[in-house]
Amino acid sequence: MGKKRKLRKHLHKREVDDAPALVICVGKSCAPREVSRQLVEQTRAYAAASGAPVRVAVVGCLHVCKKGPIAATWPDIEFHKRVDFARACRLVDELAAEARDMAEKTCPSEHAP
Ligand code: FES
Repeated sequence: MGKKRKLRKHLHKREVDDAPALVICVGKSCAPREVSRQLVEQTRAYAAASGAPVRVAVVGCLHVCKKGPIAATWPDIEFHKRVDFARACRLVDELAAEARDMAEKTCPSEHAP
């Protein structure tokens, strides 16, 4: 089973919807666990402070297991290696921008006939 498919299956099991999220691995093979957990806490704080409509979720392993911390964007899955706080913030900003674009495209105009 591919990495993307495993992640989809895992997140659907946890009943995660298709809202934008940054999924960060807190497994111990790709990076020291304290580094990954600190990244999660800092990124959650950044997302909350910036008002980004992006969830920061954790998983035990993203099946990449090298050059961590590893993060994946959700629902359009892309894996990222060696994610530091600055990069995580950029990913949150990108996901937020995509979410806002999607909301503008799908929301009916208030002035439509
Ligand atoms: S332990 Fe992080 S990707 Fe496997």
